[in-house]
Amino acid sequence: MTTWNPTQYLLFGNERLRPALDLLARIPSETPNAVYDLGCGTGAATVLLKERWPHAHVTGVDSSAEMLARARALGKDIAWEAADLAAWQPDTPADVFFSNAAFHWLDGHDTLFPHLLKGLKSGGALAVQMPQNFSAPTHTSISDTVRGGPWRRKLEPLLREHPTHEASVYYDILCPHVASLDIWETTYHHVLSGENPVVEWTKGSILRPLLAQLDEAEARAFLEDYGARVCKAYPQGRDGKTVLPFKRLFFIAVR
Ligand SMILES: C[S@@+](CC[C@H](N)C(=O)[O-])C[C@H]1O[C@@H](n2cnc3c(N)ncnc32)[C@H](O)[C@@H]1O
Repeated sequence: MTTWNPTQYLLFGNERLRPALDLLARIPSETPNAVYDLGCGTGAATVLLKERWPHAHVTGVDSSAEMLARARALGKDIAWEAADLAAWQPDTPADVFFSNAAFHWLDGHDTLFPHLLKGLKSGGALAVQMPQNFSAPTHTSISDTVRGGPWRRKLEPLLREHPTHEASVYYDILCPHVASLDIWETTYHHVLSGENPVVEWTKGSILRPLLAQLDEAEARAFLEDYGARVCKAYPQGRDGKTVLPFKRLFFIAVR
């Protein structure tokens, strides 16, 4: 299981939270009782759920001890649960399942989401956001670096090149199980500061399982190779900023 580094992840906390806010704004539930943040990470979005529904019982669920430790330190009136979402269900049917940037780490979406929907009350909402930029240079440069270096045999089996599907596939997966379905995509154009900030961005997420397999010297060489590729794809502007276009997929399925 991937070890997460909450500090690296939160380097771009505002940018990573923006889709969570956009997703939350579209959830129709007025006064839910039981609300879950699935793959809650450091709890940044879980806090927003509690703020929107202060009377709800809000629980953050995640499999990373490091992320949950950071979430617990927020000291909020939120329950935190360590669990693998692959087979997870709530103890009793819930009103809202919210998930920001987590389910692309899991496989089998065709069975996973219908299974999750069974854990919702009638009228309950499953609200999900996942990155949809796996054919962008941020990600294709990872595959190119993996396949072009001495670490290929070690890292190639770990590549997650197509963890999400087209919106139409989610329509087909979810439609038979829901009363209503809202699906959309948004491309954010994040304006980032610093030297080659795209490397810092991916170091906090998609690169983690790969770098964890390399020793220090290998990791440095890998990041140099990858860094040169993304630097070309996302050059620094004259103002010193780097613009990172980032497409994301959203859906809200109401049971
Ligand atoms: C990119 S972070 C997103 C965190 C948070 N939702 C946010 O918006 O800041 C992805 C989170 O999903 C969690 N995750 C990945 N696979 C998981 C699984 N199988 N079960 C539970 N959590 C998982 C990771 O531990 C990580 O905290």
